[in-house]
Amino acid sequence: MSHAPIDQSAAWQALAEHAAAMRGTHLRELFADADRGPAFMLRAAGLTLDLSKQRWSDETLARLLELAREARLPEAIRALLTGERVNVSENRPALHSALRLPPDASLVVEGQDLVPGVHATLARMADMVARFHAGQWRGATGRPIRDVVNLGVGGSDLGPLMVTHALADYRPADVHRVDVHFASTMDGSQLVAYLSRFNPETTLFVISSKSFTTIDTLSNARTARDWLVARLDGQEGVDEALVMRQHFIGVSAKPEKMSDWGIAEANQLEFWEWVGGRYSLWGGIGLPIALVVGMAHFRELLAGAHAMDEHFATAPLAENMPVLLALAGIWNVNFLDIRAHSILPYDGRLEYFAAYLEQLEMESNGKSATHDGREVGYSTCPVLWGQLGPNAQHAFYQLLHQGTQPVVCDFIAPLRRYDDVEDSATREHLKAQHRLTLANCFAQSRLLMLGDDAIDEEGPRPGHKRYRGNQPSTTLLLDRLTPATLGALIALYEHKVFVQATIWDINPFDQWGVELGKQIAGETERILASHGGHERMDASTRALVEAVWQAEAAGDD
Ligand code: F6P
Repeated sequence: MSHAPIDQSAAWQALAEHAAAMRGTHLRELFADADRGPAFMLRAAGLTLDLSKQRWSDETLARLLELAREARLPEAIRALLTGERVNVSENRPALHSALRLPPDASLVVEGQDLVPGVHATLARMADMVARFHAGQWRGATGRPIRDVVNLGVGGSDLGPLMVTHALADYRPADVHRVDVHFASTMDGSQLVAYLSRFNPETTLFVISSKSFTTIDTLSNARTARDWLVARLDGQEGVDEALVMRQHFIGVSAKPEKMSDWGIAEANQLEFWEWVGGRYSLWGGIGLPIALVVGMAHFRELLAGAHAMDEHFATAPLAENMPVLLALAGIWNVNFLDIRAHSILPYDGRLEYFAAYLEQLEMESNGKSATHDGREVGYSTCPVLWGQLGPNAQHAFYQLLHQGTQPVVCDFIAPLRRYDDVEDSATREHLKAQHRLTLANCFAQSRLLMLGDDAIDEEGPRPGHKRYRGNQPSTTLLLDRLTPATLGALIALYEHKVFVQATIWDINPFDQWGVELGKQIAGETERILASHGGHERMDASTRALVEAVWQAEAAGDD
């Protein structure tokens, strides 16, 4: 149904007027109100969200909530969670939240209860994980598998990579150790580094690809298959079929394509078209996670995400964590013109969290056409990047403090850490390091907010030492980093993305923008390989192609 663009609504116009007044207000003035901190703080599912360092007021928030209602957000949330076809351009639901429903739940979508299928896949995963952890998943020569390499890219890589790294401490004791690795790049450089180190007899590959057509993944998979077959086929009692059966698992929404490629049916984990690639770590794509942390912890991850789903579904808009996080983003992008967003975890275990969010947010909301295909008249997703906060302090924080760009930051940290370190002296040292890390996290957000006023000094600081301040930020504290709180954190951002997409009237669940690039890459590859046909290309690309041919010719000499 076509409706007036959101930026023509009364709520948007009121916000634009309000923003004109707020733009001149420095964060330090907002903090003249001594109660401001607690008033913008929220707790849910083991997370504490502090939005007080955003450049907004009670009035701003009230007006943003009005905008959310204008965009029919409550109806949209209901539509998402009950399985309506919210992915309009691909005509299907987006039901990642169904992957974390408990086994006794029921979600009937278009006449079918999805929960039994979800739990059947989890049961298959559990069987596989149990075999690995018992040392019973053996390679073709009979030796237990020791190294598992996930071959996937985008959503079939970043989620499992991020979570396995974050939860590495949760590896179950007393199981056969299986190390999990990730190779995504199409140039084969990551894969080749593993192949030179690993023993083919004890190495298994998980080919993770929702579509099972992604060239990056399939070219790595072909190299892996050739490597295994060349080394194992012909050993006593080993043939190619046995190598395929013992050394490959496939995870995809396309079982027939997995079979065509040679993945044994018993080694296939299927998921559904209604799970978006970047939202898929909660099912079969999460197999590497379950291999590292065990199935019990994997289920805790799902339970944490489900707790956030429940909160999202039931909390009033004004107390709803994903909604408020999203509204802060809308306010920054659309009304304060802040279009750069940095993700800064203060915990080394969250090393890949920013990379994960870059895909989640920018592939979801990097759109400029509304649901009915009109060009939007306002900004959508900001440019998002990040890295571990303590390291970024020694890299790009200079720009945050004294550059010319307004940037909003998300600071993320666990409140408690290292309680379980056995040796008491080491525990105390590590706890002191954790305290130091939190001190840095809080100091940076305070300095970014207040500028020079963060320290008591007589008189103004000279120009090159001046801190302007007024950079807004969000602080997210996890009680501890556990499977459950990590699940809740990821679900929080997933839902934030959906809320923003709803207000911007865009579809966060498609990614047509990456398709044309794949097509042109295919044509370019054919030209490079055939040494002809580049005449119709632009002058720059033509010269680049010729440089490759010249390099190849020189290499042949
Ligand atoms: O090209 C983008 C994309 O389709 C992402 O959306 C997806 O996560 C990634 O490629 C990998 O896709 P697949 O899981 O189908 O291999």
